[in-house]
Amino acid sequence: MKILSIETSCDDTGIAVLDTKENKNSPEFSVLSNVIASQVEMGKKYGGVYPAMAKREHQKNLVPVFVTALKHAGLLKSLKNNLSKEKFEKLKEILEREPELYKKLILYLKKYTKPDIDLISVTNGPGLEPCLWVGINFAKALSFAWDIPVVPVNHIESHILVNTLENKNIKFPAIALVVSGGHTQLILVKKFGDYKILGETRDDAAGECFDKCAKILGLGYPGGPIIAKLAEKNRGRASIQLPRPMINTKDYDFSFSGLKTAVLYAWQKSNKKPDSNFFVSRRKSYKFKKLQKEFAAEIQQAVIDVLIKKTIKALKDFGAKSLILGGGVSANQELRKQFEKVMNDEAVRFLSRDKKRTINFLVPQANLSTDNGLMIAVAGYFKQKKTVVWSDIQANGNMRIGE
Ligand code: KG4
Ligand code: ZN
Repeated sequence: MKILSIETSCDDTGIAVLDTKENKNSPEFSVLSNVIASQVEMGKKYGGVYPAMAKREHQKNLVPVFVTALKHAGLLKSLKNNLSKEKFEKLKEILEREPELYKKLILYLKKYTKPDIDLISVTNGPGLEPCLWVGINFAKALSFAWDIPVVPVNHIESHILVNTLENKNIKFPAIALVVSGGHTQLILVKKFGDYKILGETRDDAAGECFDKCAKILGLGYPGGPIIAKLAEKNRGRASIQLPRPMINTKDYDFSFSGLKTAVLYAWQKSNKKPDSNFFVSRRKSYKFKKLQKEFAAEIQQAVIDVLIKKTIKALKDFGAKSLILGGGVSANQELRKQFEKVMNDEAVRFLSRDKKRTINFLVPQANLSTDNGLMIAVAGYFKQKKTVVWSDIQANGNMRIGE
């Protein structure tokens, strides 16, 4: 079965084609294409993501990304179109809020014929609603034009399921830690499809904290990868000590906005200056750069410490057999390294109590940790029986996994 996926929940336009086969009850995946258009340059220019602007970019990017994804998958067939005039009229109606997307899609449909696709999967939440709607309407248009079934999928669940690309036999119960720009959630996975949120951030997500702290330090966007890079360059101990919010609470919740505020005050204090010129000249100075590196390392470590402590607690409390990471922040190399180390140590400790118990540690390749179309295609595979009538799909910006 060939699945075409569409992801537009935030600022990345992602489309993938995944070929799937059943092999003794376990899927065999073959990635035919995974194409992404990132709006990171715009994010850099404006210092973040703005829904209306991001929506416009998705409108511009969807068809070119789609055509590239089909081309890479060898599914772009340029034969004469066979769509009726009525179908074109109806497509105009479906995409009435996305006129630019409609124009580009029509040009495509006039040039190419229906590709060999069996199912379309599309993110319908959580995320930025104006952005979700562009992807959904695109999925609706394609489903209608070619009579291909369509299935809506949850973005957070997709961050978890993408791990099955490399690991077919995940043992349950599992604990999933999804850490992204919009979410920080610890989820009990009894089996795929059966989820319970154990805890989550009460304010900022971990990725959001990285992004905001990077802004305070005068660094670019998105903050996570920049802070990670700087932290790696830091030598020696940091001269500042930041709090580890909620690290010892008995629940599975997080809070990162206090960390950001602590960074703001500590940064202002470290940069106390007699006049603004002094600050400007300091900006380029060695000392200033050293300070940035020290802050980056300490911010990163504070986030990692809290994430690891709470995750280990959940693993123990629920007798988990697997730990699954996902979301943009799980691309962080230091986080992965420290999780791996502690999982080895902890696994040994767990083993001493129960000789049979080991905990599998799963984390996607870094480029599949951040938003991408492929994770939506994998989720499409697991949800293939949940197809809906295309016209019924709705965006839900606040969708929660397991509800
Ligand atoms: O999952 P994702 O691509 O989009 C959302 O669903 O939010 O996550 C984006 C977030 C951003 O906040 C970004 O700063 C963070 O993931 N991120 C990282 C790294 N790469 C991306 N954070 C820490 N270290 C990284 N290497
Ligand atoms: Zn995401």
